[in-house]
Amino acid sequence: MPHEISEKRKSAFTTLVPLEAVLFDIDGTLCDSDPIHFVVLRELLQRTGFNGGIPIDEDFFAQNISGKLDDDIAAVLFPNDIERGLKLCEEKEERFRKLVKEKAMPIKGLYKLTKWVEDHGLKRAAVTNSPRPNAELMISTLGLTDFFHHNIIIGDECEHAKPAPDPYLKALKLLNVSKDHTFICEDSVSGIKAGVAAGMPVIGLTTRNPKHVLMKANPTLLIENYEDPKLWEVLGKLNKRENEA
Ligand SMILES: *[C@@H]1O[C@H](CO)[C@@H](O)[C@H](O)[C@H]1NC(C)=O
Ligand SMILES: *[C@@H]1O[C@H](CO)[C@@H](O)[C@H](O)[C@H]1NC(C)=O
Repeated sequence: MPHEISEKRKSAFTTLVPLEAVLFDIDGTLCDSDPIHFVVLRELLQRTGFNGGIPIDEDFFAQNISGKLDDDIAAVLFPNDIERGLKLCEEKEERFRKLVKEKAMPIKGLYKLTKWVEDHGLKRAAVTNSPRPNAELMISTLGLTDFFHHNIIIGDECEHAKPAPDPYLKALKLLNVSKDHTFICEDSVSGIKAGVAAGMPVIGLTTRNPKHVLMKANPTLLIENYEDPKLWEVLGKLNKRENEA
């Protein structure tokens, strides 16, 4: 499978003119929070004797945990005792919230992009499978509460969470914008699938997941972080087209 994205595909962004909105996932897209989730879960599972007390590794986390709802995580961890899985997830979220305040760091270049979004008067929302208290805490820790105007869509509050398109479709409705004038930033396979299914171009961040894994979900562009020249090339072209129109 090719790991590079064609010029033709990148031009999908210029057809978005006039751009109305940008939608952002949170975990791994605004901040690199997965390492915090990973450490917390690994410790909790080891204490319960999961997998014979052998600590889970990053592959297990990437494949089975990252970007998923707690309901699904519980089912993966304890298929015969979902209640136990859910209880463990609750504890995981609680510990996560304690650590986020100290350790959540914005993805490189994030504030350059949020400024660009503000300068262009675009609407924006955060769209996540995380529980609402985590989502709100991460956004306030990053200083983005005002930026998002409290527009936070939670997967579990939709009929179907990501990878279904529902959370992104709900965001379009909430902002009253068209999918034809909106793009998405995401970092997981599940999230990119949701965005593509909702009919929008998706910029995939390789924060945690390797290119070849993300490519399976069909992103329009892959970037390392928000300082990536590929991103600014595309946004520059969009600007130019906007000025011509
Ligand atoms: C994901 O979970 C399944 C079921 O427990 C397991 O068989 C598989 O090895 C896990 N994936 C990785 C990469 O560890
Ligand atoms: C939604 O946007 C359209 C224009 O795109 C506008 O005509 C309409 O009044 C808006 N609806 C609300 C509820 O703001």
